[in-house]
Amino acid sequence: MKNIYKIAVIAGDGIGPEVISEGIKVLDKAAELDGSFEFEFTHFPWGCEYYLKHGQMMPVDGLDQLRSFDAIYLGAVGYPGVPDHISLWDLLLKIRKGFHQYVNLRPITLLEGAPCPLNDVPREQIDMLVIRENSEGEYAGAGDWLFKGQPHEVVLQTGIFSRVGTERIIRYAFEEARKQGKSLTSISKGNALNYSMVFWDQVFDEVAKEYPDVETNSYLVDAAAMFFVKQPWRFEIVVTSNLFGDIITDLGAAIAGGLGLAAGANINPEREYPSMFEPIHGSAPDIAGKGIANPLASIWSASQMLDFFGHEDWGKRVLAAMEQVMVEGNTLTPDMGGTANTKEVGDAVAEKTQVIHATEIGVIPITPATL
Ligand code: NAI
Ligand code: MG
Repeated sequence: MKNIYKIAVIAGDGIGPEVISEGIKVLDKAAELDGSFEFEFTHFPWGCEYYLKHGQMMPVDGLDQLRSFDAIYLGAVGYPGVPDHISLWDLLLKIRKGFHQYVNLRPITLLEGAPCPLNDVPREQIDMLVIRENSEGEYAGAGDWLFKGQPHEVVLQTGIFSRVGTERIIRYAFEEARKQGKSLTSISKGNALNYSMVFWDQVFDEVAKEYPDVETNSYLVDAAAMFFVKQPWRFEIVVTSNLFGDIITDLGAAIAGGLGLAAGANINPEREYPSMFEPIHGSAPDIAGKGIANPLASIWSASQMLDFFGHEDWGKRVLAAMEQVMVEGNTLTPDMGGTANTKEVGDAVAEKTQVIHATEIGVIPITPATL
């Protein structure tokens, strides 16, 4: 009996549908080669176009419609004509919060063949996993806008750091560091944010006592930004708040191949709700419809989905296939200096996934039925 993974696809706006198709292609290829599982995709036409017709980014019962799926595969949402805070809050953040996807996993690994703007930094030294708090903190949406439009108007944007929320993300990061045998670095800002980040640092120190085997570091976010560029080798597993994680992972993306390569997974660790996989870039209206969007970020998030379902061997294969495509350099989109289109890059990765040998990527060899 085959395992069937039910995936809700929200391709979204702009280049979202273009890059998601290529991720689906690679997922289907992995499933076909393995033979023991398959994907069943259900497409939801939600996003800005939907908003312009219906006044909302997704139906009122959108979360109910998604709940029974094993995972959500998201392209990007946002398009000129709909304010960004609406597209973000009414869909992306609603799903992240509604489904308790409180862990955001963003790998910052410089793959072989990927462009890097840093000189003198060996590739192996850019290899980290940023674990970002994904449910509260600075993006809790708490605040007020008083006396709007009047000369004495006041705006409040409140960060919310609950004990439960702070502890669970830090604990998750310690578990991951222990599992991988790596150091854990906390990024905060206790000197200036004298409540929230002092609390964050305190909880980090408390939880650290339970993990004496894990080496820890703690940096202020501004210093961390500098070290990301100057000495990225300092970071292995990183844990940080919602806002800092958002910013620092775009910086990370810049040193590890660019936005066209950066992926993220929104995880509900208890698996009570579907987790969501997405490229971290947006809908790129400037290149939408031209067929030149780089699908590698979306394919990387597909590989995270394979990991999540316990098919780490296939997840690694997909990354290795991406590396081969980049090293050969014949089939790359314009943002990476190539002339290929989105579909050609997707085809190339799918093809490499088929021919790559497990032994080349250091995983336990598997013998797919159809290989
Ligand atoms: P963006 O990530 O869409 O684009 C920034 C720049 O990177 C653009 O020049 C774009 O062409 C380029 N780029 C991005 N992804 C690319 C890819 N796969 N291949 C080649 N080039 C790529 O960010 P921007 O322009 O700030 O936002 C555009 C819209 O996307 C906005 O409405 C924004 O709110 C939304 N957005 C949505 C996100 C999501 O759904 N997760 C995340 C970030 C932005
Ligand atoms: Mg971001």
